[in-house]
Amino acid sequence: MDDLLVVFWIVLLTSVLVSADICFERSGFFTPNDTYDLNRRLMLSSLPSNVTANDGFYTTSTGQDPNRTYGLGMCVPGTDARSCSDCIISSSARLLRNCTNQTEGIDWRMDRTLCLVRYSNRSYYGSLGMEILRSENYTRDVQANMTDLEITWEALMIGLIDQASSLSYAAGIRKLESSISHVYSVVQCSKDVSLENCTHCLQENVIEYRSCCRGRQGGIISRPSCFIRWEVYPFLDLFDNIAPEKDGKKISTGTIVAIVVVPVVLLALGYALWERREAFKAFTTDTGDDITTSGSLQFEFKAIEAATSNFHNTNKLGHGGFGEVYKV
Ligand SMILES: *[C@@H]1O[C@H](CO)[C@@H](O)[C@H](O)[C@H]1NC(C)=O
Ligand SMILES: *[C@@H]1O[C@H](CO)[C@@H](O)[C@H](O)[C@H]1NC(C)=O
Ligand SMILES: *[C@@H]1O[C@H](CO)[C@@H](O)[C@H](O)[C@H]1NC(C)=O
Ligand SMILES: *[C@@H]1O[C@H](CO)[C@@H](O)[C@H](O)[C@H]1NC(C)=O
Ligand SMILES: *[C@@H]1O[C@H](CO)[C@@H](O)[C@H](O)[C@H]1NC(C)=O
Ligand SMILES: *[C@@H]1O[C@H](CO)[C@@H](O)[C@H](O)[C@H]1NC(C)=O
Ligand SMILES: *[C@@H]1O[C@H](CO)[C@@H](O)[C@H](O)[C@H]1NC(C)=O
Ligand SMILES: *[C@@H]1O[C@H](CO)[C@@H](O)[C@H](O)[C@H]1NC(C)=O
Ligand SMILES: *[C@@H]1O[C@H](CO)[C@@H](O)[C@H](O)[C@H]1NC(C)=O
Repeated sequence: MDDLLVVFWIVLLTSVLVSADICFERSGFFTPNDTYDLNRRLMLSSLPSNVTANDGFYTTSTGQDPNRTYGLGMCVPGTDARSCSDCIISSSARLLRNCTNQTEGIDWRMDRTLCLVRYSNRSYYGSLGMEILRSENYTRDVQANMTDLEITWEALMIGLIDQASSLSYAAGIRKLESSISHVYSVVQCSKDVSLENCTHCLQENVIEYRSCCRGRQGGIISRPSCFIRWEVYPFLDLFDNIAPEKDGKKISTGTIVAIVVVPVVLLALGYALWERREAFKAFTTDTGDDITTSGSLQFEFKAIEAATSNFHNTNKLGHGGFGEVYKV
C-alpha cells in the first residue's frame, strides 16, 4: 500500500504557473503606437503562419533601423500546425498586452504545447540568453523517498540533455524506484542557439534546480535560450507517445500494485468524488492568462488525473482548460 499512498501524496499541487512572459526594460522603452510599435505588431501578427510554415521555427525582422524589430517564434517538435499557431497567437497577444512600452519581450508558453515568442530591437539570434526569466517550484515537498526522486530526476535529465545535444529538444518519462509514479520532463532550447550552447544552458538549469527546487514535486526553469519543466504527471499531450525510460529491472511489486490495486481504489475514489464533479469544472477553466490551480478539489482532481493516466488512456473524456478530464 505504500506505493499507492505515495502516488496520492505526490501529486498534491499548490500552484502551477504555465507561462513565463517577461518585458525587459534593459533595452529601453518606445512610445505606444510609434513606428517601432507598429513594426512589432506587424511582425508578431505574421509569426503564427510563418512558424507553422517553417517546421516550427522562424526568425524575421520587420521595419528599418532604428525602428526595426527582430522576432522569433518556435513550437516544440511534433506539434500540429493548429496547436502551434494557437500557442504563438496567445503568446503574442500576452506580450502585446503586458509589454506596453518595453522594447524587448519574451514568452515561453505552455498552451497544449510548448512555444516561444520573442521580440527585440537588437538582433539576438545565436547569442546565448542566460538570465533566469522564471523559476517556479511547488511549495509542497514530495511526500516520498527523496533520494529516489533526486536519483530519478538526475537520471532523467542526463538522458534528456544528451538527446537535446543533437535536437535542441527532448521529452521523457522515468519511473520512480520506490513508487509507481513517474517523473515527466520537457527540455527545449531556442533553436537559434548552437547545440553546444544549448547543452550549456540546460546544464545550468540542472544546477539551478539543485539550488532552488531540489526535492520539489515539479517546477519550471526558463531562460531566454532554454526551458525545462518537470512534473509527476503528464503535463503535455506529447507524453502519450513516449514510453518510460527502462531501468533494466524486472517487474517490481510497485508495478503489480499499480496493475491490481490502483484501479480498485480509483473506482472507490471515483464514487466518492462523483457528486463533486461539477465543482471540478469550475476549477479547470482556462482564463486565457496564467492558469493557476488551487483548492483541495483541484488536488484530488490532479491525483486522479495523474493516477489514471498511468494506466488507461482510454479513460480520457476530454480536455479541461489545464489538463485532461478522466472518467473514474
Ligand atoms: C533599442 O531601443 C532603445 C530605446 O529606444 C535604444 O536605447 C537602443 O539603442 C536600441 N538598440 C538598438 C540595438 O537599436
Ligand atoms: C494606438 O492606436 C490605436 C488605433 O489607432 C488606438 O485605439 C489606441 O488608443 C492608440 N494607443 C495609444 C496609447 O495611443
Ligand atoms: C523611426 O520612428 C520614428 C518615430 O516613430 C520616426 O519619426 C522615424 O521617421 C522612424 N525612422 C525610420 C527610418 O523609419
Ligand atoms: C510570413 O507571413 C507574412 C504574413 O502572414 C507573409 O506575407 C509572408 O509571405 C510569410 N513569409 C514566409 C517566408 O512564409
Ligand atoms: C502579464 O499579464 C497578466 C494578466 O494579463 C498578469 O497576470 C501577469 O502578471 C503579467 N506578467 C507580467 C510579467 O507583467
Ligand atoms: C511605460 O509604461 C508604463 C505604464 O504602462 C508607464 O508607467 C511608464 O512611465 C512608461 N515608461 C516610459 C519610459 O515611457
Ligand atoms: C555560445 O554563446 C556565446 C554567447 O552568446 C557566443 O559568444 C558563442 O559564439 C556561442 N557559441 C557557439 C558555438 O555558437
Ligand atoms: C529510498 O530510495 C533509495 C533508492 O531507490 C533506496 O536505496 C532506499 O532504500 C530508499 N529508502 C527508503 C527509506 O525507502
Ligand atoms: C523553491 O523552494 C525552496 C524551498 O522552500 C525555496 O527556498 C526557494 O525560494 C524556492 N525557489 C523558487 C525559485 O521559488
